[in-house]
Amino acid sequence: IPLAGVIGMPIAHSRSPQLHGHWLKRYGIRGHYVPLPVMPEHLAEVLRVLPRAGFVGANVTIPHKEAILALADFVTDRAALIGAANTLIFRPDGKIHADNTDGYGFIANIRQSAPEWQPDAGPAAIIGAGGAARAVVASLLDSGVKEIRITNRTRIRAEQIKAEFGARLVVYDWAQAGNMLDGAATVVNATSLGMEGKHPLRVPLDALSPDSLVTDLVYAPLMTPLLIEAQHRGCKIVDGLGMLLHQAAPGFERWFGRRPEIDEDLRRAVL
Ligand code: ATR
Repeated sequence: IPLAGVIGMPIAHSRSPQLHGHWLKRYGIRGHYVPLPVMPEHLAEVLRVLPRAGFVGANVTIPHKEAILALADFVTDRAALIGAANTLIFRPDGKIHADNTDGYGFIANIRQSAPEWQPDAGPAAIIGAGGAARAVVASLLDSGVKEIRITNRTRIRAEQIKAEFGARLVVYDWAQAGNMLDGAATVVNATSLGMEGKHPLRVPLDALSPDSLVTDLVYAPLMTPLLIEAQHRGCKIVDGLGMLLHQAAPGFERWFGRRPEIDEDLRRAVL
């Protein structure tokens, strides 16, 4: 029976076991997906042991997404570029293959929720410059976006992303975040602001066009203050839960041999 799981610390809050568990049950696959609480100092040891215990792969989450790159035998180009991996495949020869599917999940979610979305319709504006923002930048560049505007409270992190990802990026000062939205076709909150128990994102939306698509990586709550206001302004909105669901699909397919569907049933099972 193939086993997979999610490695992190803490791990109790992770929705991945529900998500993969739902798919295993729906498709009648004999397999298990379990939460694996692992301390950073034990990560290397656990990785050596898991394949011998019947694991075919794993997801990796906070705080291991960056450290895992140094422990894997193969790292995909996009994981190397992003500087983090979230999906591991344990190959029959014992080698560990590390990939990052966050950017794929980001784009697949928008394409499913807003099929009319065109990445090259105009500039994209990204708020935030953490690990999640890096995956979003990589995937938008791949999708053919011509200009990516980026802002972050700590400006140097945005400058660093521009230095790594190149000429299509334009850094805006945090105080200019509202102006950055002027003419943007795609707007993304990649900060943790708006999450339950945190402050809302306070960016003035006056410059936002009703033609733009606004998406938030925060999915608890599903309707963040940003999405509520963007909807009031007539924008197309896409919530962040779908990205979580879509980023999980490539791993499930590799481990359990079936491409899983992402639909309302799954959203209900995970919420
Ligand atoms: P993740 O991997 O989820 O992106 P992260 O690397 O910790 O996590 O990044 C969190 C993002 O939320 C960053 O852009 C962070 O801004 P800083 O780089 O300035 O820390 C942003 N963020 C978190 N709390 C914030 C706050 N109170 N105000 C503004 N930005 C905040």
